[in-house]
Amino acid sequence: MFFGTCPTVLFSGTAFRILFKTHATMRPYIICHMLGSVDGRIKQNIWGLKDHHKYFEEPAAKIKADAWLVGRVTMQEFASKKNPPLPPGRARVPKEDFVGEHSAKTYAVVIDPSGKCRWDTNTVSTEHVIEVLTEKVPARYLAHLREKKVSYIFGGAKDLDLNTVVKKLYKVFGIKRLRIDGGGHVNGSFLKAGLIDEFSLVLAPIADGTIGSPTTFEAEEGYGKRKATRFHLKSVKRIFGDFLWIRYTVAKNATAGS
Ligand SMILES: NC(=O)c1ccc[n+]([C@@H]2O[C@H](COP(=O)([O-])OP(=O)(O)OC[C@H]3O[C@@H](n4cnc5c(N)ncnc54)[C@H](OP(=O)(O)O)[C@@H]3O)[C@@H](O)[C@H]2O)c1
Repeated sequence: MFFGTCPTVLFSGTAFRILFKTHATMRPYIICHMLGSVDGRIKQNIWGLKDHHKYFEEPAAKIKADAWLVGRVTMQEFASKKNPPLPPGRARVPKEDFVGEHSAKTYAVVIDPSGKCRWDTNTVSTEHVIEVLTEKVPARYLAHLREKKVSYIFGGAKDLDLNTVVKKLYKVFGIKRLRIDGGGHVNGSFLKAGLIDEFSLVLAPIADGTIGSPTTFEAEEGYGKRKATRFHLKSVKRIFGDFLWIRYTVAKNATAGS
């Protein structure tokens, strides 16, 4: 029992350094969740589903997570439709991470390298919004986010380093389980970075066939050195009549076929 004792004094210098290092390198457990057609398409424009949100949302709600994350294109469906103007004049805002005042316990994260989403509020549904930016965003955009109390973190100078991004989400916001909800480009970039631990697919009994429409994972064009990612089946369940909810874990250090 150590009543009345500050816990830090109980660590030796080495133990404290190890503890600090572990915290600094920790990242969330990452589950990618998607609704896809049998040909891997994700846009529902011609699917003709009634109440189309439920096929994605009901299984998603069963996946325990502290935050969901989407790409800029997907988040623009939830961000301001009024496109409020940026604050006038020259803003002087340092390019440092910012935590907006909020009381939400869960988060909605958007990968928005150039700062294209505008906000009326800092909340989507019940989640507090976190923008993931590069340093190329103008100071006036940061002033807009601060005015709306939207949190933001920087993930790189010109390009995003997704490893840095997920470690910051863990360290700054305590996000230990992160659900990535698409679209295809954001999923593909996390897949390519080796940052997906589980894949949850709601397979719709639909063939879409639209050439050029985004698929579940849009990682890169053509065949280069990259190897496909191999999964292990975790569970499969028939839902909503003819739909399947398939859950996979990512096989670490294995390529397709091995
Ligand atoms: N069926 C489903 O379950 C499901 C789920 C989600 C979304 N969707 C649909 O998917 C469609 C959008 O998918 P999408 O693939 O076109 O777009 P997306 O993944 O939502 O967004 C792509 C954009 O995010 C930014 N981005 C993503 N990864 C990045 C990285 N590593 N580095 C820098 N920037 C990065 C870029 O923004 P900039 O262009 O600003 O640089 C990129 O153009 C929508 O129609 C949506 O409704 C379907």
